[in-house]
Amino acid sequence: MFFKHLAAALVSLATLRVVSGTPYPRATCAGGQQVANEACCAWFPVLEDIVPNLFDNECGDDAHGALRLSFHDAIGFSPTGGGGGADGSVIVFQDTELQFPANAGLDDPIGDEAPFIAKHNVTPGDFIQFAAAVSLTLCPGAPRVGFMMGRPMPTEPSPAPDGLVPEPFDSVQKILARMHDAAGFSPTDVVALLASHSVAGADTIDPTIPGTPFDSTPSVFDTQVFIEVQLRGTLFPGSEPGQGEVQSAVHGEMRLQSDHLMARDPETNCAWQSFAGNLPAVQSAFTSAFNRMSVIGHNPADLIDCSDVIPGALPLPRNAGPHLPAGQTQSDIEQACATKAFPTFTAQPGPATTVPAIPQA
Ligand code: HEM
Repeated sequence: MFFKHLAAALVSLATLRVVSGTPYPRATCAGGQQVANEACCAWFPVLEDIVPNLFDNECGDDAHGALRLSFHDAIGFSPTGGGGGADGSVIVFQDTELQFPANAGLDDPIGDEAPFIAKHNVTPGDFIQFAAAVSLTLCPGAPRVGFMMGRPMPTEPSPAPDGLVPEPFDSVQKILARMHDAAGFSPTDVVALLASHSVAGADTIDPTIPGTPFDSTPSVFDTQVFIEVQLRGTLFPGSEPGQGEVQSAVHGEMRLQSDHLMARDPETNCAWQSFAGNLPAVQSAFTSAFNRMSVIGHNPADLIDCSDVIPGALPLPRNAGPHLPAGQTQSDIEQACATKAFPTFTAQPGPATTVPAIPQA
């Protein structure tokens, strides 16, 4: 009788594992880690190297740069216009692709990543997406995204042609059309991907003030960018606005025209608002869109799922809840979504917030 119950319990456990999509680990790596596919073991030494030596164990300039690079490589694909997507062409064909105005500043993350690619003998396409997935694990609040390996070296139709990477001075319609063309992204997918601007800043828009963040908390992945971009703009962080820059609400903070318009355009404003203060919604929508972005130009069936190499996500600190920066009030929010009011947030106490620049690597 006991054995009958035990057998039944084991069968239902096995069924649960299959239904939940978690296969039993099939390989043990040299360091003792369990992975579904032995080929994934090769990524643990890369992980152990880049966390301290590329990213300095922090969600800083190098982590931000790695995340941006993953987007600029992947989005270089159009079913009709060419490009190989997430294929590493932005590194392999950097002589061409770094000439594109939208790729300004990418020489930094490329220069930082290149020695690790050579040392670990992996393809640039894989490394770029791996580094981005790992960079997110250093940013508290960021979700744990997946990682697929197996992108070959880029061949024809690389390099990507110019004009495929959205610019901050493009219209919402142009950006949405481009993102849809590249990977079928919906307007909500695009807004979710812009959560990346929560751990981001600009070096090249106004080169006199490198590392100017897009929200007041650039080392954590939270929803502040969705709140702060909805505030009435009153100032420029530098002496003169750069191309694609509009007024921000907070000293030391830069606002991209594209983010500003996404928060206000009828096609995207309710999605934008829905993410303000709702980190679980952002995490889930961002993960889904990011995982699709990282395989643009590939048939996922040709790749190996090595998501089990990506470390667990870091939670947001308890006291890091959504808020208005000090000096702002709810009436500074420019309501844009026509069907629902923007959620209410409390302002931080004290004198008006001034955001320090992101220390440059
Ligand atoms: C779709 C429209 C987008 C536009 C127009 C846009 C534009 C920009 C611009 C102009 C910068 C500043 C570059 C500089 O001056 O250094 C920037 C930074 C950044 N972007 Fe985007 N972006 C978009 C989407 C994305 C996406 C989808 C991701 C990632 C999933 C991303 C990740 C980042 C990151 C992490 C940075 C900060 C880089 C750093 O601090 O070094 N962006 N973006």
